[in-house]
Amino acid sequence: MDNNSQFHEDLKKILDAVKNVSKEALVFTYNGVMYPAAICDTDTFKDIESFEAREEDLMLVSYPKCGTNWAISLLYSIVGAKYKKEAPSCMPAIEFKAYNKSLKENTVSSPRILATHLHYHNIPQSFFDKKVKMLVVFRNPKDTAVSFFHFYNNNPALPDYDTWDDFFPDFMTGKVLWGSYFDHADAWNKHLDEDTVLLMTFEDMKEDLEGSVKKISEFFGMSITEEQVKQIAEKGSFKYMKENSGKTHGDFAEIFFRKGDVGDWRSHFSKAQSHEVDSKFEECLAGTKLGELLKYNVHCKW
Ligand code: A3P
Repeated sequence: MDNNSQFHEDLKKILDAVKNVSKEALVFTYNGVMYPAAICDTDTFKDIESFEAREEDLMLVSYPKCGTNWAISLLYSIVGAKYKKEAPSCMPAIEFKAYNKSLKENTVSSPRILATHLHYHNIPQSFFDKKVKMLVVFRNPKDTAVSFFHFYNNNPALPDYDTWDDFFPDFMTGKVLWGSYFDHADAWNKHLDEDTVLLMTFEDMKEDLEGSVKKISEFFGMSITEEQVKQIAEKGSFKYMKENSGKTHGDFAEIFFRKGDVGDWRSHFSKAQSHEVDSKFEECLAGTKLGELLKYNVHCKW
């Protein structure tokens, strides 16, 4: 079975397995943070504390719904332009039990493309000891929240919310998968000047995908031609990825490739909710480097 068919099989298994699971049992808490039970488990979290990174690993770190699948696909294309690299049979997240199994078996050849949604403080120490380069992807908090809300409701492996108004307070207080957006942002904000870190935003990738591909490939020391940059950006467009998502993501295609827009929050947020995020942003990120990179005033004001 090739990797893609294996991935589709695995996704089907996840959907079958959650059919009779109660809403409460779809998520679990580890060290105070909520995770999806269908793809993560406590043993894997314990295991990855001693995860052995390799110097040549390429790591993507993102808060959920900030463009993970997009960035991973770009990384595979960039690395694939230089090395023969077959995409794995699932998202290569170190904390996903299925992928962690192949990492433990040590069958993944270098350079490995790895991903995580873990909070900065929960990333295994070995990544820092080995000075592994990390591409960190963020998205403006309002669109992230809206995307997260739809993800919960469209994904049968997660509990549903009756309304957006029910979801919003959970997002603001971090009672969502992988914890609080603002805690993640606050932690990363202190590390953006490190040589091993490149921060990209969803919005900048959307505005200039070719430029973003170039930046990412240069950061990881992968020299690719202008022609390759162009091709990678074409295949990384929302239109292309959505059209091909049936092949790449099977039953999860509609779940992962929804709108791919900047500004969808305006069709969900009330004025009060918008003000609440503005205040939280002001408190956590105003005047900081990450705050500036997120171009909050451009993307998050009516
Ligand atoms: P929306 O729900 O706003 O459409 P993640 O991969 O981290 O779960 O992020 C999912 C979000 O990224 C979804 O946002 C999805 O549509 C968007 N996305 C995926 N591929 C994209 C692409 N090529 N261009 C723009 N957005 C993309």
